[in-house]
Amino acid sequence: MLTPAIIQKFTEIKTPFYYYDLELLKKTLSAAKKEVDKYGFHLHYAFKANCTSEILKTIHTFGLGADCVSGNEVKCAIENGYASEHIVFAGVGKSDDEINYALDQDIFCFNSESLQELEVINELATQKNKIAKIALRLNPNVDAYTHKYITTGLEENKFGINAHELDKVLALLKRLKNLKLTGLHFHIGSQITDLNPFRKLCTKVNEFTTLMEQKGIHLEHINVGGGLGINYKEPDTEAIPDFESYFKIFHEMIKLRKGQELHFELGRALVANCGSLISRVLYIKNGINTNFAILDAGMTELIRPALYQAYHKIENLSSNSDSYKKYDVVGPICESSDCFGKAVDLPETKRGDLIAIRSTGAYGEVMASNYNLREKAHSVF
Ligand code: LLP
Repeated sequence: MLTPAIIQKFTEIKTPFYYYDLELLKKTLSAAKKEVDKYGFHLHYAFKANCTSEILKTIHTFGLGADCVSGNEVKCAIENGYASEHIVFAGVGKSDDEINYALDQDIFCFNSESLQELEVINELATQKNKIAKIALRLNPNVDAYTHKYITTGLEENKFGINAHELDKVLALLKRLKNLKLTGLHFHIGSQITDLNPFRKLCTKVNEFTTLMEQKGIHLEHINVGGGLGINYKEPDTEAIPDFESYFKIFHEMIKLRKGQELHFELGRALVANCGSLISRVLYIKNGINTNFAILDAGMTELIRPALYQAYHKIENLSSNSDSYKKYDVVGPICESSDCFGKAVDLPETKRGDLIAIRSTGAYGEVMASNYNLREKAHSVF
């Protein structure tokens, strides 16, 4: 919640900047952890959502592990106090350098996505005389009904190993002596607000674990990824996602074998609502159908609206005018896609007003670029 006292502080800070509410972050983490602990599940934080050190450190105090998708994320996890035995390393294209680095750190496991990658990890592990722990990322072919760019669990997507390749993979694993298969990994997509795809995922997971059991393979852990969505429309009334319903589905549906652990990798659900991008109106310009409110923040600070046509609630923090008008809220970048919202109802808006773009704690700052040689926006906590 952006209270008048917080907004007053904003007036003294150079814009644009990311504002993070660490109290809300802690409340969100407590809510998630309560459900996870209820069932003895294991929760990793998906670093890709936000790698700001203060956020990583706060999350670490709640005892979460790290889900990383690059060597630098693994390094960042270690630098921020995450123990290597709680770090998972996923991604379709891990480079040799990244694999070598993660091998040196003795991480919890590599979530491996292809036959060729398994051969490379084995070869590099052999050179180091190490055994790399592997979870096979399987593609469950479950539609997450989310934006096509963030759907990952369909056979047509580049992610994971498809079911028809499983036998070949298992035969290969028998040959690769420096790999130890410890788990299975799944992730069907992101910003999933209808919980049914997670139910379908559970059914698929059970099919795969039964199959593996029939083949005499013991799995120490199952990782069902992340993807739980948030309410972008109501960042204040529903600031914390419904973790209770989400984790309950897995508790009720996944059939774990004795001693088998269930792991999760949540990103957005933990951090999205604790962040806002704060910007100032540089100019108001009359358009044909609406006016333009031109901000000092653009797609370089937050690319989600341009890339996924994503909705973020936009608020004028300075105006208390009763007269509302429609504005296309745009940035200064030389691209027509540099638009945060079209025909947004805002109170009469003028040059210098502070604008908040809400729910930008996930996939905001981390996806920033310096296109147009823009400076990186700073963070305020
Ligand atoms: N695990 C894996 C293997 C993933 O690929 C992802 C996200 C996660 C976990 C965390 O998913 P989450 O809980 O945050 O939904 N830039 C996009 C989102 C890309 C998500 C990529 N993978 C956006 O702004 O919507």
